[in-house]
Amino acid sequence: MPPSTRIRNTLATAVRVVLVAVTALALSLTTVPPAQAAGGGPSISKKHFGTLSNGKKIDVYTLRNSGGMRVKILTYGGILQSIEVPGSGGEFANVTLGFDNLSDYVKKSPYFGCITGRYANRVAKGRFTLDGKRYRLAANDGPNHLHGGVKGFDKRIWKAEPFKRHDSVGLVLTYTSPDGEEGYPGTLRTKVVYTLTGDNRIRMDYRATTSRPTIVNLTNHAYFNLRGEGNGRILGHELQINASRYTPVDKTLIPTGRIARLGGTPLDFREPTAIGERIDSRNQQMVRGGGYDHNYVLDSRGQGLEVAARVVEPDSGRVLEVITDQPGLQFYSGNFLDGTLRGTGGRSYPKRSGFALESQHFPDSPNRKNFPSTVLRPGDVYRTTTIYAFSTV
Ligand code: GLA
Repeated sequence: MPPSTRIRNTLATAVRVVLVAVTALALSLTTVPPAQAAGGGPSISKKHFGTLSNGKKIDVYTLRNSGGMRVKILTYGGILQSIEVPGSGGEFANVTLGFDNLSDYVKKSPYFGCITGRYANRVAKGRFTLDGKRYRLAANDGPNHLHGGVKGFDKRIWKAEPFKRHDSVGLVLTYTSPDGEEGYPGTLRTKVVYTLTGDNRIRMDYRATTSRPTIVNLTNHAYFNLRGEGNGRILGHELQINASRYTPVDKTLIPTGRIARLGGTPLDFREPTAIGERIDSRNQQMVRGGGYDHNYVLDSRGQGLEVAARVVEPDSGRVLEVITDQPGLQFYSGNFLDGTLRGTGGRSYPKRSGFALESQHFPDSPNRKNFPSTVLRPGDVYRTTTIYAFSTV
């Protein structure tokens, strides 16, 4: 090679190296979360998430609003798999606990993010009587029935229809539960509409009708950690619940039937208080729950949607409000998490690394005449709405 060509080649290589370095530097300075990078209006897209052992395919829908908030929903269990919201400095984090694969949801999930039904929470000994007829549900939580049984709504495949409006996107999920499924009477036609709004809210509208008298109590069972899933415990989150009464429980977490005042107990969250401040109290109710695992009787004014709870995470500045028309709210402080589950981001979930705020009717209502009724009859429509509203301080 003549010397002039060698010099030209060496120069060309040097220019390429500099160009690559400058491009890399520019890219590293402009790195933004993928959700923000896409820009533009709201969008919704679908991808294959996994295949069940019976060959059925499960999809994941990704909803995105114009501010960059992103929510992923599975057709398995209607699960909120991921919720990415900004902190006060604009940094996005996934604030809900979950898995990155279908098999973990099928085998190990403690109800992460799912639609919970037909009867969310507990029914004592799985028994109830309706119109003089006795019914028997599975005892899948010690002696009691929990969250719809062995194969509840959290493990069903939901039909999904995406939609898009001016500043929101959503998914209509439907599932028809046959008469007698998990022991419940009546064919229950169920519809859950998830909407991601432009102002960082996840709205959940539930609707159900039945062919025979039955009981129904639907909720969503998302666990939150506003620091980001897998990022430590939730003990520093400051919680406020708009309730001055609750339903105390027996040793198996079934309500005793009493509606008791919260004043003077470590369960009182009328003033914003860190979740960890009183969680290890020797109070009998706290010992029974292994922490917080109680139904709060909301002080609602009976005017439809009202703020039931507000949670502030001081380090990230992230705020979650739970807005609902339901009479009760189960506050569960993740006491059964034990570090054995590895979550979406690859990190393990220790005890109390997530909390749930489940809007609902009171546990064991089918056996308690003094609790609001959960009976649904043919011709009537079960309708309820809950919103997870995210913001920052
Ligand atoms: C609910 C219950 C808890 C627990 C979780 C799931 O919140 O109240 O006791 O069963 O679900 O692990």
